[in-house]
Amino acid sequence: MKNWWQGLKGSVKLRESLKRHTTFGIGGPARFFIEPKDVADLKLLINLRKRYKLPLLVIGAGSNILASDKGTGAAVLHLSSPYFKKLSFKKNILEASSGVSLNAAIRAATERGLGGLEFMAGIPATLGGALAMNAGIPAKSILDLVENVTVLDYNNRVKILSKNDLCFGYRSCNLGKFIILSARLKLKKGNKKKISRDTKQYLKRRWLTQDLSLPSAGCVFKNPKGDSAGRLIDLCGLKGGSVGGAAISLKHANFIVNRRHARAKDVLRLIALAKKEVKKKFGITLKLEIKIW
Ligand code: EPU
Repeated sequence: MKNWWQGLKGSVKLRESLKRHTTFGIGGPARFFIEPKDVADLKLLINLRKRYKLPLLVIGAGSNILASDKGTGAAVLHLSSPYFKKLSFKKNILEASSGVSLNAAIRAATERGLGGLEFMAGIPATLGGALAMNAGIPAKSILDLVENVTVLDYNNRVKILSKNDLCFGYRSCNLGKFIILSARLKLKKGNKKKISRDTKQYLKRRWLTQDLSLPSAGCVFKNPKGDSAGRLIDLCGLKGGSVGGAAISLKHANFIVNRRHARAKDVLRLIALAKKEVKKKFGITLKLEIKIW
């Protein structure tokens, strides 16, 4: 097991703090934090993890993860090398690798007068993370744009999955058993100024309604059918409630913010409180949108 990672060309960090890689700014060390150089390097990693029976967790921009204060014994895979940040256009199709940030994709598309991505402005996600979570807003999600997704399975086979192979739900999809490598998104030709204006509108709405001034993981719970988790938690009078350094946002009750040195266990206590109170008052069981590591 000693120095099992020898041979990998990318970066391997030991005991890397997950605080640095999650938007919550919370989390203990990852035993191994690995940024492969390219697909060949990634395939080598898949072989090594099999040989050494290492669990693997994939992280994108870390915007939907609450990492344990103890950290993780898994190898955390981060596709952030230049190879995984490639982006190109063929007519109105955007082809991007999974490490590309949504905001970079929006900027590049706008520059070419291609619209469609505007509703995702301000979501702090990589393309891979956005696909894995089927990111979006209530009216639409990234699924609406997908032509196909190229993935690597855990037997090191590259597959191209067309839209029909994909099964997306509300903030979920069936890509969990793969490592997402890249995707082709279908955009539409539009007016640069209008695309830019619409992007700003989505950003403005986010700034007006959401708590973006403090570290968080965005909405903590999924919305129950036909309602909003934020509204329900708000009606329970929980805004501003705090445990340790974590608090339920005063601006949006479905946001838990890291006010100062919050620990995962503080956030977990607020999650339990919100679930309990919403269940008691409305009989609704809230389900987590964020992933707990
Ligand atoms: N509301 C309250 N109190 C609150 C928060 C919201 O009464 O503290 C009310 C609002 O006034 C509004 C309703 O609840 O009438 C819905 O609130 P909002 O428009 O803020 O939308 P949301 O349902 O809370 C969803 C997504 C967001 C996405 C916005 C964009 C989920 C769980 N949340 O929020 O996604 O940005 O719509 O419109 O689907 C995320 O997934 O991390 C996320 C932030």
